[in-house]
Amino acid sequence: MNYPTTRLRRNRQSAAIREMVQEHRLHPSDFIAPIFIMEGEEQKQEIPSMPGYYRYTLDLLGKELEELIEVGIQSVLLFVKVPESKKDNKGTEALNDEGLMQQSVRFIKEHYPDLLVMTDVAMDPYSSYGHDGIVEDGEIVNDPSVEVLAEMAVSHAKAGADMVAPSDMMDGRIGAMRKAMDEAGFENKGIMAYSAKYASAFYGPFRDALDSAPGFGDKKTYQMNPANVHEALREVELDINEGADMVMVKPGMPYLDVVRAVKQNFNIPVSVYNVSGEYAMIKAAAEKGWLNEEEVMMESLMAFKRAGADLIATYFAKEAAKVIADL
Ligand code: PBG
Repeated sequence: MNYPTTRLRRNRQSAAIREMVQEHRLHPSDFIAPIFIMEGEEQKQEIPSMPGYYRYTLDLLGKELEELIEVGIQSVLLFVKVPESKKDNKGTEALNDEGLMQQSVRFIKEHYPDLLVMTDVAMDPYSSYGHDGIVEDGEIVNDPSVEVLAEMAVSHAKAGADMVAPSDMMDGRIGAMRKAMDEAGFENKGIMAYSAKYASAFYGPFRDALDSAPGFGDKKTYQMNPANVHEALREVELDINEGADMVMVKPGMPYLDVVRAVKQNFNIPVSVYNVSGEYAMIKAAAEKGWLNEEEVMMESLMAFKRAGADLIATYFAKEAAKVIADL
């Protein structure tokens, strides 16, 4: 008796054959490493809800960047922690050409010119209300916020950022940023749009890292409802038409269907953000000895590629690149 004829297990018999038929691969250049920067000197603070992840003062950042470059990471996404005294409703500090973000970009481009520098464009770290826009009568007003965001993008481009990454979810901001950057002579600076960014509870640890939790209410009037996927396609379509060079889906693991839908419907590089809460879950379970951290990390990163992501912003960038290099 010779049954069955088709035996899928034949292609799984050895490491060699499994690798030959492997459909997706991870490479360090897939990863975007988020970087948290704070004011001050000679400090490296671990974020309690993100074990193994740190905020750096600028003078200590070089070493971390060198480690990333060493393992093959080619791009970083910068976030800054702003002291309470510099926050206001209009995000004034965000437009300061001598601000921490602008200084950080100049530092990185001067010392590590080949590293692709992306900057977070959003008002929440600068907002006394912790919102991504200007607050008027308890509402987050769209168009005045877009004006600030467009100026912010220009300020980052002027400092030398290669791409700006608006994470605010105001309507029309991509078009406004494209226009403002073009008018300022930065037509070659790119935009990675957080197009489908959901109002997610998975951002908790990040808000600890930047002390940027909303002071009142939530972000549901601008970030997307987790129940929607067609709406994500409308967001992506608008952002592409307004001039986005890449689009992003965020969070990652719970939204793989959205990544897939975006990839299938549009011809544009798609990135996914493996957010702080996803990182925290894996770290916490590993600390308890309940999961094998390295295997779960690599499996989740592979899931992003399988779903169709071209790029992955992840706090695991360095660890995963090391694993890949050892193979
Ligand atoms: C804010 C911003 C957030 C993240 C990136 N940019 C949080 C938020 O929208 O409240 C979350 C990233 C993460 O959780 O890793 N503009």
